[in-house]
Amino acid sequence: MLKLTSRSKVAELQNGPPGMMRILVSTGIFRDGDDPEVTIGELCWNFGFNPGILLNMLQSANIREEAPPIDIAPFKAMPLLELVEHIEDVHHRYLRENLPVLTGLTSQVAAEHAGDERLAVLDTEMQKIAFELESHLAHEEEALFAMVRDLALRGTVKATRCGDAVGGPIACMETEHDAATETLKKMRELTDGYTAPADADETWQQMLAGIARFDQDMIEHMYKENRVLFPRALDAQRGKSR
Ligand SMILES: [Fe+2]
Ligand SMILES: [Fe+2]
Repeated sequence: MLKLTSRSKVAELQNGPPGMMRILVSTGIFRDGDDPEVTIGELCWNFGFNPGILLNMLQSANIREEAPPIDIAPFKAMPLLELVEHIEDVHHRYLRENLPVLTGLTSQVAAEHAGDERLAVLDTEMQKIAFELESHLAHEEEALFAMVRDLALRGTVKATRCGDAVGGPIACMETEHDAATETLKKMRELTDGYTAPADADETWQQMLAGIARFDQDMIEHMYKENRVLFPRALDAQRGKSR
């Protein structure tokens, strides 16, 4: 958790939990590409914004982050084009192959144990996240990833349905990642951390193992996007447009 005061610099927020920058940018007093060495106090002074209110808003997103799920260094070093391909080949493909299997399994197990309220909720959550992820993946591939490819290959961005700046789709993607993180947390709680009860049959065990792997894959996938792809895409656009 970051210690926040009016002397904290925007650069510190940029390295903190990602939600804080989103809040700062939403106030309109700091934009992508502005000098991150400015302090919160200076920004508020310049824009006539109450620093106490801003600090309160930022504090709501100042949450302790879980330990990084993977070594991120190789992905930071990877050419941007390769990184996008890696995410599509590994994580998007994994989801497209496995979401139909997982939604099938949760429905089956919930139907076989019709009185079990937690299984019913788990099934609802699984159907919901699978539906949302389908459009999330398409949105990433058609808008953000297409823009990143343009930047990497041509140095410019062709407008997509999400405009002509990577910041637009990135803000959407981050919000959807937050929603997915909440759903995963709920699924962990509903299954006691994917622990099979003593009377669980083979399908039930298979379902839990499958969702546990899905959870793990999602954490890695979102970490690579939030922590590497999104900042690098913003940097690439800044570098080319300035
Ligand atoms: Fe993705
Ligand atoms: Fe994503």
